[in-house]
Amino acid sequence: MLSAEQIQQNWLRLIGFIEDHISEPRKTNLIDFYEKYSERLMLMPAAHKKEYHNAFPGGYVEHVNRVITCALHLNDLWAQMGADTTTYTKEELVFSALNHDLGKLGDEEHDSYIPQTDKWRQEKLGEDYMFNNKLAFASVPDRGLYLLQAHNVKYTFNEMIAIQTHDGLYDEANKKYLMTYMPEQKPRTSLPYIIHQADLMAARIEFEREWLPKLNNNVEKQKKSFTLENNKKSSPTASGNKAKALNTVKSEGLKNLLDNL
Ligand SMILES: [Fe+2]
Repeated sequence: MLSAEQIQQNWLRLIGFIEDHISEPRKTNLIDFYEKYSERLMLMPAAHKKEYHNAFPGGYVEHVNRVITCALHLNDLWAQMGADTTTYTKEELVFSALNHDLGKLGDEEHDSYIPQTDKWRQEKLGEDYMFNNKLAFASVPDRGLYLLQAHNVKYTFNEMIAIQTHDGLYDEANKKYLMTYMPEQKPRTSLPYIIHQADLMAARIEFEREWLPKLNNNVEKQKKSFTLENNKKSSPTASGNKAKALNTVKSEGLKNLLDNL
């Protein structure tokens, strides 16, 4: 969970990325768009199911900032390894990372993720959010691109493809771009691969930060209770009970089996 101060700082960092990397004339429209929906965006989770990454208030902006940062680093790595990074601009890289999940916002009036109303699901499954059924269906990339054009924010061809395919082959719809064997149909820049890698890297790091301590804690708890159980079994009372039980069994095979327990 993030504090109110962290949520505020993350928001300023996100606006900072726009200030530093996006050029006019679209920079003004983009900042206007982000300011218009600031309250909703600032508090949004990155997902509605707790098992997914950053499904807590402020999780969306934290995730986006991480994807932008990963994308900037990965861009340098791809360049160092010999990829042609002149086929796209740094502005296109940041713009795509910034808006890759924008469709998660919902539409102009409705949030995609609203507080869970089913008490059972909230208590038993830990789902704090649920998908808002008032929203007409659209994929996250489609909705994000729609929102941008509806607010007069233009995007380039490279940005459109990178946002569309940011889920890589986790989304079947991307096969047409990413699974073609025809050279002329392959993406003409590495941008879609870099954005996908950045998203994957950020989501994995978020999983490690949130879930590994919980899972490891559970393993430790299980180990402790296993040791306690074993101690009980080898206690004088337990061995007395075992001896009594063995005396009542006539079959030698069954006796051996019980003795080994
Ligand atoms: Fe993402």
